[in-house]
Amino acid sequence: MRIDNPKILAALPELGVELRPGQAMSELTSLGIGGTTDVLRIKKHEGIPDLLNLLEQHGVPHKFLGGGSNLLVGDGELPWVVMTLVKPDPDVVLSGNFAQIDAAADLGRTVTYCAKNDLGGMEGLIGVPGTIGGALRMNAGAYGMQIGSYVREVKLYRAAERKIEILRDDQISFEYRHTSFAPDDMMLAVKLELPSKPFKEILQGIRICNEKRRSSQPLGQKSAGCIFKNPPGKSAGRMIDELGLKGLNVGDARISDRHANFFVNAGSASAKDMLTLIGDVRERVHKAFDVELEHEVVVWNG
Ligand code: EPU
Repeated sequence: MRIDNPKILAALPELGVELRPGQAMSELTSLGIGGTTDVLRIKKHEGIPDLLNLLEQHGVPHKFLGGGSNLLVGDGELPWVVMTLVKPDPDVVLSGNFAQIDAAADLGRTVTYCAKNDLGGMEGLIGVPGTIGGALRMNAGAYGMQIGSYVREVKLYRAAERKIEILRDDQISFEYRHTSFAPDDMMLAVKLELPSKPFKEILQGIRICNEKRRSSQPLGQKSAGCIFKNPPGKSAGRMIDELGLKGLNVGDARISDRHANFFVNAGSASAKDMLTLIGDVRERVHKAFDVELEHEVVVWNG
């Protein structure tokens, strides 16, 4: 979608927003899939309420992009524009056991930065691609930990209230790959409270998680991490593997040979290929195990 309304174009600089016209979403997502649209890069949080009012007044549909690492975007010219936060400098500020982090901060770099300052707890998230905002929204987790456990405050744009608010941890619920944030809330910043640990000890934990991940996940390939959530008490990857589906493909969309819940883009897969593969696997798992797999990956298709 193209923004060509002169009123919107004229207002953007004042709101601290930079327009990047006709961006390929395939370049902004780890799967390397997705059509084109205009991208609005937000440089100051304070401009967000006015920006959203402006887009809504002029009937411009919009979506909010984090790191693009857990996202499958549709093909062709997309029927909405994309907003994204520009990372401030610095993006992490430490004070005692608290870390104040901008939502646009890179998750892995943040974990490492905190570790170097003897703050641990997030070792399991090393190697998970994406931003702090995305990790927060999905309550990212791995190897027995989840980011929600360390959250003390979240600064967000609350779509329902049309304003920026700060929520305390007791006003938010974090569950397995799910949070109580509304779908159109925008994560802006978070305050984490992290346990003190010597850097050397954290590094050891990081090395173990890195090794486990390297040996079980296709890290060098284009993917969006796990495609399906694990049903309670079950492993989606194991079920797909048991059906002998590793390597199954629709065009260049392929089930990884290394981990059956990772679907990779082995070349120039389209969203249509990937969605067909996902639908086929859901059906086969349903038939064989009587289990309805739920998407873990976020799908923006239409
Ligand atoms: N398994 C197989 N075949 C496979 C994949 C897995 O038999 O192809 C078996 C494994 O041997 C193991 C069990 O299934 O016994 C579970 O596998 P794994 O330890 O790899 O964990 P997972 O449940 O598949 C979850 C998260 C990952 C996270 C890892 C490590 C979900 C959907 N996935 O995977 O998160 O990295 O645990 O903690 O919760 C993501 O969220 O995108 C993601 C990759």
